Amino acid sequence: MTERIAILTGGGDCPGLNAAIRAVVKHADLRYGWQVTGIEDGFAGAVERRFVELSRKSVINLLSRGGTLLGSSNHANPFAYPTRAGESQDVSEQVLANLTELGLSGLVVVGGDGTMAIGRRLMEASGGALPLVGIPKTIDNDLAATEATIGFQTAVEVATEAIDRLHTTAESHDRIMICEVMGRYAGWIALSAGLASGADVILIPEIPYDIERVIQSLHRRHQSGCTYSIIVVAEGARPQGGDFAVSDSGDATREKRLGGAAEHLAGGIKQWTDYDVRVTVLGHIQRGGAPCAFDRNLATRFGVFAVDLIAARKFGQVAALRCNEIVAVPIEAATQNTRLVEPTDDLVKAARATGVELG
Ligand code: F6P
Repeated sequence: MTERIAILTGGGDCPGLNAAIRAVVKHADLRYGWQVTGIEDGFAGAVERRFVELSRKSVINLLSRGGTLLGSSNHANPFAYPTRAGESQDVSEQVLANLTELGLSGLVVVGGDGTMAIGRRLMEASGGALPLVGIPKTIDNDLAATEATIGFQTAVEVATEAIDRLHTTAESHDRIMICEVMGRYAGWIALSAGLASGADVILIPEIPYDIERVIQSLHRRHQSGCTYSIIVVAEGARPQGGDFAVSDSGDATREKRLGGAAEHLAGGIKQWTDYDVRVTVLGHIQRGGAPCAFDRNLATRFGVFAVDLIAARKFGQVAALRCNEIVAVPIEAATQNTRLVEPTDDLVKAARATGVELG
């Protein structure tokens, strides 16, 4: 009988998910002759038995398309599944029964830390019987297992282009332009895009900032003849001794959402200076649209690798990029810690060495 594998995309979407789906479907068929089932809307589809057949025809023209053909959900945790009454219930047994019914040789879970943690718990709940492998994705690039996740590089490209554009209008009007980027509790997008776009100040969650220091650096710059400045703020940036700016406090089924860090900073600068300050929040623009070439290729490499992991019956493993090689990392390691920017990171050193104020 032909073997069957399944794939789902969980958590927030990002560019490159479709490229991963395409690689899994093509490699499974071309190399192993397997059939592939798509599970809709992350684990929601596994709860509600929403399954679709994926063929090589379904993935034509998918490589460059943003989003995910299968849909995704960041509040479909089977261990705290939202009910109509606005509460949550554990439906993990139902999920395992639904997946068992499919008779899978493997389940590819494409996700970030939350989705991987759910995958790991499901494996444990199945006594190790669930044949799960993982592919890491998130624009935040905060997964401990891998040096790069699908979607991160595209988000950096999008943010870099946006900040480049802010330079010209900031210069025309002698303004301080503050650009807030995503990244949750990690400063990778802010630091990478800020450095690439020549930002004067970059504020990241890992280095709580001192507002006086930020203002002094603006004064120094403006006294030396520059008439405008660019500040890139991670959504998780916060002042020393202050809290994260939160736009939605979440609940048992939804994670807390960050937002407002740039407005908060703008308020502080306006309080103490006469600078003309404007705020741009890039938001989900960073997650939409076509993946860059790097993300397409990373997603393709991860997809092929995940299928080969299933063929080798190496379950409970996540594909990861290390020193430009794709390797297998146990899912436990992938879900243990968040990968944050270290003060010793090369990007931090390069920013400081070129006069960027990090707060
Ligand atoms: O984890 C990816 C991410 O885009 C974060 O950078 C951001 O904080 C969050 O998701 C936004 O989530 P939502 O799509 O629920 O607004």
